[in-house]
Amino acid sequence: MKKTSNCATEVNPEAAPWLAQGGEKRRVVQQMFAAIAPSYDRINGLITFSLHHRWRQIAVRSLQLQPGDHVLDVCCGTGDFLEPLRNAVGAEGHLEGSDFCRPMLEIAQKKPHHRAHLSLADACDLPYSSSRFDAVTVGWGIRNVPDIDQAHREAFRVLKPGGRFVSLDTAQPRNPILRAVSRWISGTLIPWFGRRFGHEASRAYKYLPESTLLFKSRVEIQASMEAAGFRNVTTRDFFFGNICLWRGEKP
Ligand SMILES: C[S@@+](CC[C@H](N)C(=O)[O-])C[C@H]1O[C@@H](n2cnc3c(N)ncnc32)[C@H](O)[C@@H]1O
Repeated sequence: MKKTSNCATEVNPEAAPWLAQGGEKRRVVQQMFAAIAPSYDRINGLITFSLHHRWRQIAVRSLQLQPGDHVLDVCCGTGDFLEPLRNAVGAEGHLEGSDFCRPMLEIAQKKPHHRAHLSLADACDLPYSSSRFDAVTVGWGIRNVPDIDQAHREAFRVLKPGGRFVSLDTAQPRNPILRAVSRWISGTLIPWFGRRFGHEASRAYKYLPESTLLFKSRVEIQASMEAAGFRNVTTRDFFFGNICLWRGEKP
């Protein structure tokens, strides 16, 4: 048992992984995604009604990519961002996907259409040279990293001047009634779905709503991106405000 820096009571990261911080968060998140990797795509499809594909397409369109562009997908997981990115950059484009969880990358590796180069890497310490990419994407990753400001700084560093960054993640609806409904659904239905897929999925799909409640607000994420150097930072909501797309540019 260890105390976290912002919590007065003792926290057991195995029982409440959403309360873990720093290196402990890195470890529990990594273990959690390793355990649910085989069922991740199926559950993701179920809880988003497969709409995540549409949100990714909108995010990719907002990057205004050209054939031949170089793009990095951070926290790429099972690689679902990589296919629409490949369609945008064409055969001559170069795609990199990085994630710190090997079992998630192994599933991405089995999806050959994206033809991306995949690397085991931490979002807070990317193994790429500065000013290398035309765009960087991250899907449902920023909420999970132990140091959000550092992850934004790394995304900014590896972008070329003029490069674009998009991040999709969960958010809380702005409307209080929708927010209450959403809290009820995500606190009951999503963990119920998770339980159908076994113990580890049950833990992970309790983590999803809990970590969403603890996640920074739209404005705080926007401020973190701006502090990293991004300009023209905008947000766009999907799914009644339960999903947010942040977009920024490197001057
Ligand atoms: C919710 S999944 C999203 C996967 C994928 N981006 C998608 O859109 O479906 C979060 C992913 O972030 C990865 N992740 C979390 N923290 C990370 C970190 N610090 N560095 C690299 N990957 C991380 C996890 O391993 C997991 O694959």
